[in-house]
Amino acid sequence: MNPTQTTAWHQLSDHAQALAPRHMRELFAADPARPRHFRTKACGILLDYSKNRLNDDTLRHLVALADECDLRSHIRAMFDGEAINGTEGRAVLHTALRAQGDCQVLVDGEDVIPAIRGVRERVNAFARQVRSGAWKGHSGESISDVVNIGIGGSDLGPYMVCEALRPYADGPRVHFVSNVDSLHLTQTLATLDPARTLFVIASKTFTTLETLTNARSARAWLVAAGGEAAVARHFVAVSTNAEKVAQFGIDPANMFGFWDWVGGRYSLWSAIGLPIAISIGPQRFDEMLAGAFAMDQHFRTAPLAENLPVLLGLIGLWCVDFLGASSHAIAPYNQTLHRLPAFLQQLDMESNGKRVRADGSEVDYATGPVIWGEPGTNGQHAFFQLLHQGTAMIPVDFILALAQPGQKEPHRTSQIANCLAQSAALMLGKTEGEVRAEMSARGATEAAIEALLAHRVFPGNRPSNTLLLDDLSPRTLGALLALYEHKVFVQGSIWGINSFDQWGVELGKQLASGLEERLRGASAPACDASTEALLAYIAER
Ligand code: F6P
Repeated sequence: MNPTQTTAWHQLSDHAQALAPRHMRELFAADPARPRHFRTKACGILLDYSKNRLNDDTLRHLVALADECDLRSHIRAMFDGEAINGTEGRAVLHTALRAQGDCQVLVDGEDVIPAIRGVRERVNAFARQVRSGAWKGHSGESISDVVNIGIGGSDLGPYMVCEALRPYADGPRVHFVSNVDSLHLTQTLATLDPARTLFVIASKTFTTLETLTNARSARAWLVAAGGEAAVARHFVAVSTNAEKVAQFGIDPANMFGFWDWVGGRYSLWSAIGLPIAISIGPQRFDEMLAGAFAMDQHFRTAPLAENLPVLLGLIGLWCVDFLGASSHAIAPYNQTLHRLPAFLQQLDMESNGKRVRADGSEVDYATGPVIWGEPGTNGQHAFFQLLHQGTAMIPVDFILALAQPGQKEPHRTSQIANCLAQSAALMLGKTEGEVRAEMSARGATEAAIEALLAHRVFPGNRPSNTLLLDDLSPRTLGALLALYEHKVFVQGSIWGINSFDQWGVELGKQLASGLEERLRGASAPACDASTEALLAYIAER
């Protein structure tokens, strides 16, 4: 359905106009209870959304919008395994991968839980063997380094999690190679011993050009050192495509499967998480699944107005469609979350970067924003200038885990102070009066004040969410990632788009494969004039 046709959308449009002249300073002044009122906690995560341009009426209208757009039944349909990915005719069941206890999830009448648990047992058993040294390389040595070769969802999720949970890493070192640029692979391999290196070739389709190119080069590196017979002890695959895995030369006994109803960007909970299980151990991997499951339960059962993913989704949509934000920044204040912005980029932008609704009709409202970011204090010294004083209004998610193994003073106090200071500065800003008072207290002349006044004023009123995590344990991380997955789902449901396909990546792939053949000397039809000119330039060199 078109959400703009709902009563709530019209009410939100009127309401946005009425609220526009009110600065957040005023909203806080008018309601001393605001900081406690606009916050909610679940699964070890406090979401403080008080620093948004909203009030109770806004939330009421947003929840009404979710109701009118039938969000509840969309949630039910996803968890129940309905084929909600219409353009690919698939169910969307990453949630089943982390389901706990006795349960059944049916796809085409078949319970998928036994198959999920069967693969998980194999993944865990294999991870244990690699971690304990029981899995030997071709020359009888144990594995010291694991190299995951994959891209997109077959890289970003496991890479981000292995980094986030690095303080828990007690297995072999894990490395991630994704870029087709040979330097990514060669620089990774430069210090590794082929006899002690295990490659995990991760590709849902096993047709992805970058992954196969890197996998072939890795194979050649191994074979040069250990001969063809070494492949069986040093290559495993994670894929849905057993045939292609076998064609590549990996024994299907060394393949860990998953299913077409697991989207690439939602796949870290599946066998794609193998490097995670090897790095931190199966038990902690299971704790991460349990944390995600807890968030799933919260999402399914909590009232919409107290539901973390629903709130995060609705507030984001409010910023995009009613306040004009076209971008959303992610600022994690824990260094080990440094790949979280990149992970969320794929999760959000590949899911909701759509311009037609599920029925093919064109949208006449904004959908997914540009997602970007960096660890907080680094970002402060890079792009926060624009967040504070630029012309664009960019909402920010500030994310801070309050406890993490290895976190030390005085760093922790600075981490907290910086995170809170930035969201306060964005909200409060600094008025002309405050700048004047501050400068004259420091003895500045009237002329100096006038010369700098405009430059030193901060408009403020810039929205942000603060997510405070009790800790950065596997469990809380699992909950955080499920929170963002469901946030994306909430927005996609209301926008009426299919968040689970990605046709937009196909055209470039198609053109690249034609160009690659051409560059390798095959005859091919001429390209567009611009590409021809660039090809000619490259050929001259
Ligand atoms: O090109 C986009 C994409 O299809 C992503 O959706 C996916 O995560 C990535 O490529 C990798 O795909 P695969 O796991 O099949 O190699």
